[in-house]
Amino acid sequence: MLTLAVLISGTGSNLRALLEAASHSDFPARVVVVGADRDAPGLAHAEEFGIPTFTVPFHMHESREHWGEEVARQLDVWSPDLIVLSGLMRLLPASVVTRYSPRIVNTHPAYLPEFPGAHGVRDALAAGVTETGASVIVVDDGVDSGPILAQERIPVLPGDTEHSLHERIKPVERRLLIDVVRRIATGDLVLAP
Ligand code: GAR
Repeated sequence: MLTLAVLISGTGSNLRALLEAASHSDFPARVVVVGADRDAPGLAHAEEFGIPTFTVPFHMHESREHWGEEVARQLDVWSPDLIVLSGLMRLLPASVVTRYSPRIVNTHPAYLPEFPGAHGVRDALAAGVTETGASVIVVDDGVDSGPILAQERIPVLPGDTEHSLHERIKPVERRLLIDVVRRIATGDLVLAP
């Protein structure tokens, strides 16, 4: 059974989908802890599923490095096999990425390498593209630059807002993420060091 730690910043709708998938007895992975960099509303999903949570507020640490050290300390309590960034809106410091690499994956609401960064949906709309996408990648020490594990195209529709487009992307992200986790758990997908 693959054990997962999930890190979030926001509403955690993708986290919830993963929790639901992992609650089925035939799913080969379990979420063992959910962490956040702030008082994220999505932590409530973990509590509902009886999963332990931790919060390491970014703004209460003097540097990204100190914050990352505390996140790593919390993660190490649970010794997760895989760390899933599911809407964590902070870059982990390189020391933390190196410590767990390649066992950190990230979901991103764009067809990487297109539109990396914190505003993947907004940037795609601003660029006027007719299609964007969803991606699941391995985290490296760049910004959304790691190896791509899964991705899918999604059309941008006339009249789309950042919200409407993002809400169409998220279900695809969930499907890709759950599939990637399953494939890692079963050994179909091996994360290269
Ligand atoms: C997801 O679309 C995720 O890919 C994105 O934040 C959203 C979180 O939604 N992450 C990034 O943009 C990271 N650069 P959720 O909190 O409802 O799961």
